[in-house]
Amino acid sequence: MSTHRLRFKLNGADRDLEVPADRLLIDLLREDCGATGTKLGCGIGVCGACSVLVDGELVSACLVPAVFVDATAIVTVEGLARDGALTPLQDSFIREGGFQCGICTPGQLIAATALLGEHPRPTRDEVRSWMMGNICRCTGYYGIERAIDRAAGAR
Ligand code: FES
Ligand code: FES
Repeated sequence: MSTHRLRFKLNGADRDLEVPADRLLIDLLREDCGATGTKLGCGIGVCGACSVLVDGELVSACLVPAVFVDATAIVTVEGLARDGALTPLQDSFIREGGFQCGICTPGQLIAATALLGEHPRPTRDEVRSWMMGNICRCTGYYGIERAIDRAAGAR
């Protein structure tokens, strides 16, 4: 198996790693970088648990070969809070009960962060359409919607 040297930023920190050519981004993050906030759910691009931002774009880390993130900047759930201060969205998830078991929450937070980046005041339909790729087995969708509404200043 050939290897590739990757240089990228993870949550603002420089990373320089040699990885096998078949490494997936989810494994690069969780196993090579210790960023275990990003969860592996379905592994086939359906559930959204592994959502991360790569150069600001929302991607499923279970589908993306690690080699694709060379020279990019990645943001995972660990990179949202700054100096221990939660983002308004994270705070809203707590206040609105936007999670139960929490397994899907990192992906929900990353997807909703991308949503609010593109649509700072999304309509309910825009929220539902955007978040459709993030499944919550605890059926916490109403709380998630309320949390996004609150973060967008709509509540
Ligand atoms: Fe990647 Fe489900 S684990 S989409
Ligand atoms: Fe449990 Fe969403 S909070 S899967």
